[in-house]
Amino acid sequence: MCKIISIANQKGGVGKTTTAMNVGVGLRLEGKRVLLIDLDPQANLSTYLGFTDDEGDPVDELPTISHLMMAAIGQGKKLTNVKEYIRHNELNDIDYIPSDINLANADCYLAGALSRETVLKRMLSEELLSGYDFIIIDCLPSLGVLLMNALVTSNGIIIPVQAQKFAFDGLGMLNSIFEQVRATLKPDLKLIGVLPTMVDHTNASKRVIEKLKETYTDKLFNTVIHRATEATESTNKHRSLCLYKNRLGEEYRAVSCEILHRMV
Ligand SMILES: Nc1ncnc2c1ncn2[C@@H]1O[C@H](COP(=O)(O)OP(=O)(O)O)[C@@H](O)[C@H]1O
Ligand SMILES: [Mg+2]
Repeated sequence: MCKIISIANQKGGVGKTTTAMNVGVGLRLEGKRVLLIDLDPQANLSTYLGFTDDEGDPVDELPTISHLMMAAIGQGKKLTNVKEYIRHNELNDIDYIPSDINLANADCYLAGALSRETVLKRMLSEELLSGYDFIIIDCLPSLGVLLMNALVTSNGIIIPVQAQKFAFDGLGMLNSIFEQVRATLKPDLKLIGVLPTMVDHTNASKRVIEKLKETYTDKLFNTVIHRATEATESTNKHRSLCLYKNRLGEEYRAVSCEILHRMV
């Protein structure tokens, strides 16, 4: 059965997109069929995957998750088959649904739609789900209706936490949304794990990890992601860290294996 995982934290710049991409490719390298969904109007995951129009049209005319969400609530072009929104990235050998800035409008429109938290869930047909072992959703840095859609659709969430000062700011709010979703629409939504990112040798980093251990105990991943410039290089080259022989690639591959163990 297809497992759907949201990578969420309403803080920006904590490593959500880097985690979505590299866990996605890490799971591919474990032989899994993976679909990445970019659910952030900033479309950083799409950029990471080199989403450009190869036919010369402006990128914003290609089908993206925003067109899909708008179609689902009866705005814009009619929805035909979800599969038409899926692209394949050769370099990283992975399928994905890109995003674009118009997703910010979808967020507004959704606020007034009926059963607005379940729009994405209703989009993912049985036929689509049967084609994948994992769907990874890269969430936007906010606590709005798009995040709700991601959580309601998911079996589990991963929370990347930047191991720096203020790491805990806002985590309480994310937790309360998580609990609300569990109490209402998705009782079996699971916290797969909390992942420390951008870990370095500072005392601030050490303190955050100690506090995360105390707070999350076995929900903390055994692997941590260190801070390294390879992360940005990988984004610029549109190529996953897992395809290089380096520390971050090894760490993301280890996280992917932990996910496989935690999701059985
Ligand atoms: N482990 C890391 N070490 C150093 N830089 C990182 C690491 N992970 C991510 N980055 C960089 O930090 C920035 C924010 O990461 P990103 O994954 O886009 O976060 P988010 O999706 O939460 O906003 C990006 O420029 C990214 O390349
Ligand atoms: Mg991001």
